[in-house]
Amino acid sequence: MAEGARLDPWEPALRLEYDKLFKYFGVKPFGEVLDRVRRVFGEPHYLMRRGVIFAHRDFDVVLDAYERGERVAVVTGFMPSGRFHVGHMMVVEQLKYYQKLGFKLFIVLADAEAYAVRKLDRREIIDVALNEYVANMIALGLDLSRNVTIYFQTNYEREYYRLIQMLSRKVSMAEMRAIYGELEPAKVVAALTQAADILHPQLEAFGGYKYIVVPVGAEQDPHLRLTRDLADRFERELGLRRPASTYHKLVSGLDGLKMSSSRPDYAIFLTDPPEVAARKLRRALTGGRASVEEQRRLGGVPERCVVYELYVYFLVRDDRELARVYEECRGGRLLCGPDKDYAVELLVKFLEEHQRKLERARNLVERFVEPPKF
Ligand code: TRP
Repeated sequence: MAEGARLDPWEPALRLEYDKLFKYFGVKPFGEVLDRVRRVFGEPHYLMRRGVIFAHRDFDVVLDAYERGERVAVVTGFMPSGRFHVGHMMVVEQLKYYQKLGFKLFIVLADAEAYAVRKLDRREIIDVALNEYVANMIALGLDLSRNVTIYFQTNYEREYYRLIQMLSRKVSMAEMRAIYGELEPAKVVAALTQAADILHPQLEAFGGYKYIVVPVGAEQDPHLRLTRDLADRFERELGLRRPASTYHKLVSGLDGLKMSSSRPDYAIFLTDPPEVAARKLRRALTGGRASVEEQRRLGGVPERCVVYELYVYFLVRDDRELARVYEECRGGRLLCGPDKDYAVELLVKFLEEHQRKLERARNLVERFVEPPKF
């Protein structure tokens, strides 16, 4: 495989080249299943309609299973390594959608990975997982009391750990290197742990066979390739089958590169005081032209505008409103200044409301998940 074709789930490029996924790894465009989604699920999720969820593996298999009334579940995970930002929120929005459709949810708090690979402090990780991740999920309206299993990787059931150990037998270091590049034991364990996260819901101990879909950022696809191979190799022994997956684009940071908690000036956190978030947003990169005169004449370029991206990802939920802003910008009638005023207004309103809910949510966290002792 060409070196450039490799994706590193632990160090994704500052700008992911999504085409690679189709070209080298055989994922399918999500657009191809949109009509079936509409027929089977009803209205597609707004991130599906807008092309943010842009690719999949075997999603058609899940649609078939759902249509036949079989048991279906979603597995996804969060690495509690930094504050919860609007990129994480996008995954929670997808979980809400699947929950409404009747999918069981398995939500992984990847504390083992954060410790071993990111080398963070245990107490810090646990605190962030509870007060940033779980609290924000609740505040965003995910109902953790309804058909949801949420767990820390270091504090779960014995059959899950047994599965990690068994998986280790059927993969070689050469295969691991072909997928991930050179890797140390921490990453080997993290990869097998993630495979168990994705596959364990099919085991008898967790209710028996069910179809699985994994909604993740595109940089996680290497883990899915490993997991699918492992499922094949354990089909006879454990009855495991390949999971399906969907891939979303990563939200850009306010400077146009990757949004990440390690670059706080360019991220919007759900706990940012509204005036702080507003200040950051005002400095965001837009698709504006060199001068007002030029912009009136040529129009702006929403495709290259971080503010427009935020509308698409979460600030504007109504498709017609989104189309209106797009057209006004393209037509040179909406300039970046007034447009940012509008975005700031939406963002501040959202954060104020959300943070009120967050306060209440923080008291509920330990009802739903048991934190590890150390
Ligand atoms: N590795 C993922 C991340 O960095 C977290 C994760 C752990 C995960 N287990 C998972 C994601 C299972 C999806 C499914 O964000």
